[in-house]
Formats: sequence, C-alpha cells, structure tokens
Amino acid sequence: MSFELRPMTRGDIDAVHEIEHAIFPTPWSRQTFAAEVSIGETRAWLVAVDGDEVVGYGGIMVIGDEAHIMNLAVREDARSKGVGATMLESLLASAVEMGASRATLEVRESNSSAQELYRRFGLSSVGVRPGYYSDTREDAVIMWGDLLARDAASPEAGQELILAIESSCDETAAAVMRGGTELLSSVIASQVDFHARFGGVVPEIASRKHTEAIVAAVDEALEQAGVGFGDLDAIAVTYGPGLVGALVVGVAYAKGVALGTGLPLVGVNHLEGHIFANMLADPTVEPPLVALLVSGGHTSLVHMPEWGVYHTLGETLDDAAGEAFDKVAKALGLGYPGGPILSRLASEGNENAIDFPRAMMRSGNYAFSLSGLKTSVINHIRNAEQAGREVDVPDLAASFQAAVVDVQVSKAVRAAQECGVETFCLAGGVAANPSLREKLHEALADHGIRLSVPPLILCTDNAAMIAQAAHFRFMRGGFLGLDAEAIPNLRLDSEA
Ligand code: KG4
Ligand code: ZN
Repeated sequence: MSFELRPMTRGDIDAVHEIEHAIFPTPWSRQTFAAEVSIGETRAWLVAVDGDEVVGYGGIMVIGDEAHIMNLAVREDARSKGVGATMLESLLASAVEMGASRATLEVRESNSSAQELYRRFGLSSVGVRPGYYSDTREDAVIMWGDLLARDAASPEAGQELILAIESSCDETAAAVMRGGTELLSSVIASQVDFHARFGGVVPEIASRKHTEAIVAAVDEALEQAGVGFGDLDAIAVTYGPGLVGALVVGVAYAKGVALGTGLPLVGVNHLEGHIFANMLADPTVEPPLVALLVSGGHTSLVHMPEWGVYHTLGETLDDAAGEAFDKVAKALGLGYPGGPILSRLASEGNENAIDFPRAMMRSGNYAFSLSGLKTSVINHIRNAEQAGREVDVPDLAASFQAAVVDVQVSKAVRAAQECGVETFCLAGGVAANPSLREKLHEALADHGIRLSVPPLILCTDNAAMIAQAAHFRFMRGGFLGLDAEAIPNLRLDSEA
C-alpha cells in the first residue's frame, strides 16, 4: 500500500465519518467535522489517501503556543503501515509553523499502541482525567511534549551528530555518528569473559558490568570522535528488546544525559538496529527486503516492505539459534560463546555424519523451534558416553550446524519469494556463521535475490548500528519522552 497526505476538505467528510464511526465508541458527527474543517486559521486537518480512498485522518487545534491533537485515526485495514506516524509527523510540523511550542492530547488509558506512538514523538504522560470517556467512564491519559526540541532537532540536510548507546545484552557500546553516513567512533566493551564460565549470559552480572562500563564507553566514543556533549544534536539508546536489567542501565544513562543537556532522546529498537547494520555496511541496501535476525537472544524473519515498516513473519518458539549453539557447546564442555567454537570445529567435520531433526522444516509457516534439536544433540552425546564410545566432535558440530542452517535457509528463501523482494539481509551474531552465509548466499542467488551481510563487527551487538537506526528515527522526528522506560519485550511491528 502507498499513501499520501493532503488537507482535509468537506468532500472527505463522509469517508472520514465512516472510519470514525467504525473505530470510536463515541464518534464525532459529520457536522463537527464540517465545522472543524471550515475554521481554518487555528486548525490543521489532513487525510491520508491511498489512490482516492481515505485511509486515515487527523487534526490539531493551536491556541497560543499550545497545539492540541484533536483526533488521529487510521482505518483498521491500513494499520501497521506508518500512516499514523506520518500523519502525526505532519500535524506536529504544522503546529510548529502555526506558532506552537508544545503539544498536548488525551488518549484512552487502554489504547497503549497510540500512547506508544505519541511517546515516540516526544510526548510524555503527565496525568489522567478520571472517567473522561462517557461510554465506559474510562480514564484519559493526558500527554504533553515540547515541540521545540523537535524543531531544534532538525539540522539542515541531516548533518546531525548523534551519540548512541547499546546495553541490551552483554555488550556495553557507544558510538558517535554524523548525518547517518559518517561513523566517527564505535566503542564496544564486551563482558563475554565475565559470562564465559557460566556458559551463557548471567543477567545480574550483565547489569552490574554495564553500570561499571557505560561512563568509560561513552567518554571513549566522544573522545575518539573528537566531540563533546555540547556538540551533540541527540542522544539515542536501545530501549528494547533485551534483558531488562541491562537495558535499564543504558536508558537511565541516556535519560540523564538528555535531562542534563536538553538534547532530544531517540529510542531505538534493538532489532531495527540489527537490520540497519546492513544499511551502515552498504548504503545501497533499502527496502523492500526480508531480514533474518539470528543471535543469542532472537531468531526471527522480518519483512520490511518500506522504511520504518516491519512485519514479523515468524520467530523461534523456544531457543534462539545462537542460544542453541551456546548450549550444545556447553554440553560438550567447549566454552562460551559456543557459536564460533562449534563453527570452527564444524569446518573439519562431516555434516552428514549424524541425521539430526530439522524441526518445522515443512511446517508451512515461518516459526522456528530449536530446543528439540538441542535435546537430540545432548542425547546423542549421553548415549555415546554410556556406550563408552567417543564422540566425534567435528562430525557432531557439523551435523548440528547443518540441521540449524538448513531450516533457516529454507524458510529464508521461501519468505523472500513470497514477499517478492530482491534484497535479503542477514543480521545478529549468528550471521558470523560461515556455513549459514554460504548456503544462504547460494540458495538466494538461485532465485536472483541478493544477500547483504555486514562485516562481523557489525553483526554482533554494537552501537554503530543503533546510531544508524537512530538517524532514521531522528529524521522522522521520532523522539522518546523522559518518562520512557526500557521495554524488555519491545515489538518491532509498529501499530501505527
Ligand atoms: O548478536 P549477538 O552478539 O548478541 C545477542 O544479541 O545475542 O549474538 C551472539 C550469539 C551467541 O549466541 C554466539 O554463540 C552466536 O551469536 N555466534 C555464532 C557464531 N558467532 C557468534 N553462532 C554460530 N556460528 C558462529 N560462527
Ligand atoms: Zn543483538
């Protein structure tokens, strides 16, 4: 679907009213819309149209220096395509032109997706109006935000300087980027050694190590970039998904900097960051594309039909791919992280030696399941031990790796074909796996689809990719309020 925005006219009112009626329990009348549209000066009303069909609409009223968002709605079947965000962006820009320096609105307490959208545009909840909605006596959340931060945050032609922070898992990272193209520094303080003896990331250790490392990582990133806090235009931070105790450290730090300096805060979804590692490595990569995100924490196939729009096609139902590598390596007593160790051993083994299950290979959907495979590898090791046989570790590693890779490749190719894309992106720590890269490259090439894989340093967690995604969010005016929180299960698919 493609859509464009234009001012609302009287001719749109029937279509607007139909949407209004379908989604709101206490809809505005046609007369109210007609009156609003005819006021002019203190109002801005617009519609989003797909061809000649109205798919969304919204309006603001500006009184003095305050803009009130009066209405914002997207037709049910046009959601998750960025229509709401694009209309809001345009309305807030009009508000600034009309002299407003702040914006406010009321939203139903239960409408969390709308609140999330407003938060992305820098509005924070500042109170409630108890029982505001007459139909259900539901409370209204009052949201408020400063529009001048947005305004200040649009340097000419995207030359903005962003400091980005990443702390969602076991890497404390900071990077400085100018204008989305010039990476001035990228510092990664890895905690991997502290987790190694436990064979996996220990959340409590992760939070403590982030706390210890974050100040030095940021200082180092600023120093390498040759800039100070005073030179920055925005501060960006990963606010989910990830380990809550780890995310909180980055988010609290970034909010502190934003509060102390007055800089706008840009929130980045960690998974969006992994996808943007591809654009960072190769600026010609652009949607439509399908991405496979595979790391120690996630395994998902995502369709990105256009900038900022994501549809998760399928995810793992249990273990993530990297986690399976880590657990198998642990069972073999090989150390942590398991992926690099096992893939090195696999290169010397025979991948047809042991026939491990290819879970969900023919399930017809895009879901993954890796815990059954892990269990059968562990059983294989146990059975060998009990029978006094020695396990051929390279053969086992190669056979296990092939079972993981075959399923990923088969689903990846089917997703790319079904979505009709010509570009496929690989992202996350497991993208370092040579067999996955090679088999995926070949399978996609057979269908004329190009594979983008960032260099290793950008595949594993880093803040450069967060800075790249933050540039995109920044240019769209997507900011977080200072009441933003870490969201450990943050979704990539946006509602608006
Ligand atoms: O993206 P990342 O640095 O952190 C997370 O967000 O999880 O990914 C780390 C994961 C670990 O599970 C590690 O074992 C896996 O990526 N990994 C690999 C390879 N290199 C790293 N898995 C398979 N083969 C590799 N060569
Ligand atoms: Zn990651």
